[in-house]
Amino acid sequence: MYVCLCNAVTDHEIKDAIGGGASTMAEVMRCTKAGTCCGSCQPTIAFLLDTTFLVKPKTRLVAPEELENSSAA
Ligand code: FES
Repeated sequence: MYVCLCNAVTDHEIKDAIGGGASTMAEVMRCTKAGTCCGSCQPTIAFLLDTTFLVKPKTRLVAPEELENSSAA
């Protein structure tokens, strides 16, 4: 299913990115481009980050403009 309609990114692509090592919102955004436009899909991306491999506690959302800042993690 599409998670990010702005960039046509599916849940499978996001899970693949997480499986490939993306463990933060910013890393998933960089890998897939999901969440980089309007940002309304970020809660779903956060849910996938928080539940796919249970790697860490709650994921923080990242404003698309913040992605330009390399300190966003
Ligand atoms: S729906 Fe993902 S950035 Fe808009």
